[in-house]
Amino acid sequence: MMKLTPGDLSALKQQHQKITMITAYDAPSARFADAAGIDAILVGDSAAMTVFGYDQTTAITVEDMLLLARAARRGTSRALLVADMPFGSVQVSDAETVANAIRFVKEAGVDAVKIEGAGPMLRRTGAVIDAGIPVIGHIGLTPQSVSQLGGYKAQGRTAVAAERLLDDAQALERAGCVAIVLEAIPQPVAASITRALAIPTIGIGAGVDCDGQVLVWHDVMGITGGHVPKFVKQYADLGRDIAKALEAYVADVQAGRFPEARHTYAMPDSERERFETHHK
Ligand code: KIV
Repeated sequence: MMKLTPGDLSALKQQHQKITMITAYDAPSARFADAAGIDAILVGDSAAMTVFGYDQTTAITVEDMLLLARAARRGTSRALLVADMPFGSVQVSDAETVANAIRFVKEAGVDAVKIEGAGPMLRRTGAVIDAGIPVIGHIGLTPQSVSQLGGYKAQGRTAVAAERLLDDAQALERAGCVAIVLEAIPQPVAASITRALAIPTIGIGAGVDCDGQVLVWHDVMGITGGHVPKFVKQYADLGRDIAKALEAYVADVQAGRFPEARHTYAMPDSERERFETHHK
């Protein structure tokens, strides 16, 4: 099985083959994704909400992300493994950003990092790329800036805002990004950006014309607690299955139906008799 490289994502775009990406935050999920033929596994900072239960992504730390990325690494063979640089890890200086990105490569073995935003983040992105670490950009609805954006709202819905997104995408391509995530932007805007770039676009809520699609694991599997965005397609209802399994377990234990004989360990009769004569 050939390990995918960032260059393979561009090759897929050139061959007009769609790129598949999903988030994963642990080894078994990464293993499932890898076995299903997913091209890129994203250890997203969405874990702040899906795994750690915060109501925003900004709370998650580099240490938290490294722990999850190391677990996902152990489950990944073929897919490109990408980790989000969390809020706070790219804001302070170029040097600190590069040092944090290096930790993701050395301590978690990721193949690329993802950095949210353009504008002031272009310099940071360039610094990480200069250090030899592939970067995926992320524009549109960038959850780390949700307070500035005024909530989880679609972006680029006016001609001026759409033009700015196109400029940002081209600037990120010039900075050397290997791909760009487009989140929650109108389909025609994503289509124009996709046509304008040589590098692939990976959409989430950006329509079918992107070069690839990414979704959040918990949304796909139907285990999101709370609001599910309009752009999500749920492919399983594991939440319902998990609830049913837990209710059955509780009922079995309470009724003495579990464990059964086949779930218990035996001991030789002679040893049992010796033990029981002392403990009758
Ligand atoms: O953190 C994340 O899961 C993401 C995806 C939504 C692209 O950035």
